[in-house]
Amino acid sequence: MLLGLGGLYGAANLIPDPKALADPIQAPEFKSCSEARDVQSGDVLDVNCCPPPSENIVDFKLPPVHRMRVRPAAHKVTKEYLAKFEEAIRRMKALDKDDPTDPRGFMQQANIHCAYCNGAHDQVGFKDLDIQVHNSWLFFPFHRWYLYFYEKILGKLIDDPTFVLPFWNWDNPKGMQMPRIFDNPRSPLFNTNRNQDNRPPAMIDLGFSGATEDLQKVVNNLSSMYSEMIRSVNSTIDFMGQPYRAGNSPSPGMGSSERGSHIAAHVFVGNPKNRYMEDMGNFYSAGRDTLFYSHHANVDRMWSIWKTLKTDVPKDLNDPDYLNASFLFYDENKQLVRVKVRDCLDHRRLGYEFEPVDIPWLNYRPAKKAARAKIKDISSGAQKADGLFPLTLKKVTRVLVPKTAKGKADEVLVLENIETDTTKFIKFDVFVNDEDDKTEELDKAEYAGTFAQVPHKTKDKKGKSNITLRLTELYEDIDVDDDDTIVVTLIPRSNGDDVTIGGIKIIPSPPRSG
Ligand code: C2O
Repeated sequence: MLLGLGGLYGAANLIPDPKALADPIQAPEFKSCSEARDVQSGDVLDVNCCPPPSENIVDFKLPPVHRMRVRPAAHKVTKEYLAKFEEAIRRMKALDKDDPTDPRGFMQQANIHCAYCNGAHDQVGFKDLDIQVHNSWLFFPFHRWYLYFYEKILGKLIDDPTFVLPFWNWDNPKGMQMPRIFDNPRSPLFNTNRNQDNRPPAMIDLGFSGATEDLQKVVNNLSSMYSEMIRSVNSTIDFMGQPYRAGNSPSPGMGSSERGSHIAAHVFVGNPKNRYMEDMGNFYSAGRDTLFYSHHANVDRMWSIWKTLKTDVPKDLNDPDYLNASFLFYDENKQLVRVKVRDCLDHRRLGYEFEPVDIPWLNYRPAKKAARAKIKDISSGAQKADGLFPLTLKKVTRVLVPKTAKGKADEVLVLENIETDTTKFIKFDVFVNDEDDKTEELDKAEYAGTFAQVPHKTKDKKGKSNITLRLTELYEDIDVDDDDTIVVTLIPRSNGDDVTIGGIKIIPSPPRSG
């Protein structure tokens, strides 16, 4: 008997760890780049977004940093800076006409995004699997590299190696509109393919709360920033995005920042009158808007700020499949360069940092509820989870969810197997023990977090993912006392008909790393 057990253990040890067998996503082979596909029909797009191929690839080496380049906030730039920035973009756009095959041209640069996001690049060794740089842990590193080279190219075109991109400071009330420098019709930064209703002074709604008053939008924005950066984040993966390795299907799941403020700004700027919300509202066209790069400069800044937060979540992923994932970019000298995720983890080593500005969401923990909501009162109209799921989110739904421990426990809420139509923009919010259903207010203790998705192309049109929202701090603020059940309110904000949630549960907080 004992022997038998021992034998079993021995066998178990021989079963390879799937992680050890896995591989990093490898830089695509440009020569096997194929057509990009439309996000809705799957039809081939009438754009060829493949980069010019090159046999000559060099591995990236970190440059010596003599002087830190400081990216400015877009709403605060000087006249001199603006003149430089405009001239650089003007020259980049001129390349489209003068030498359309120059990989540094404006369209060529925009097409990088299309190729890495609309299925033009296959995973090396997996012909049937696309490379997708969104909806996973590759999100932050890919875009950091993309901007790094874009910025270097702009600098080269104006012969100023110190040039930096400005960041759209949407997380600060002073930056919560499209920056004015992008809204001047006489400037090369201008783009007509934007939502005309959202031109300045329209204020962004980072939480898609539907609030109409600017003041409410500001507090909602700060609340959703606090939630996606701090309150709802239980683990490194929750923030960074799900693991994505060679051989995996694309889009395993977004981190809290990608699906929150990041998506909100895309949708705010994209023109709903265009079929696919071009430019910013769709991956294939997003890079055609000059504002895209400043939006992502702030996304990049969010990553850098997150790494400095004194929360209990580890800030680094040490998985070799993350660190060794690689991409290809043309540099400012038209040289094709292979870069690895591991080399971009500290932006300072790439030679830039961000102009320091106030971060008002940092201490934006919602006020504690003065009086505790009585579970009996809030649970009226709430349904038991059994039998309710899978649930298509056609309307606001209140669900009773059992806790694993009474009262203030270290727990997370898991929404499982969220199935979406990947061709649609989808968004819903999650509240806990909310009494008043004033759903346009996010600045309250009951707001637990959000799910969102930008339309994107996948082979089978159906996306499946989970989200995990930490409840630990929320419990303190709403004072759950010794309750063993909470009421979760699910509020569809966009295309609820096209999202089905497989299940809902509360579990003890999983390990914070990984
Ligand atoms: Cu690559 Cu914000 O999209």
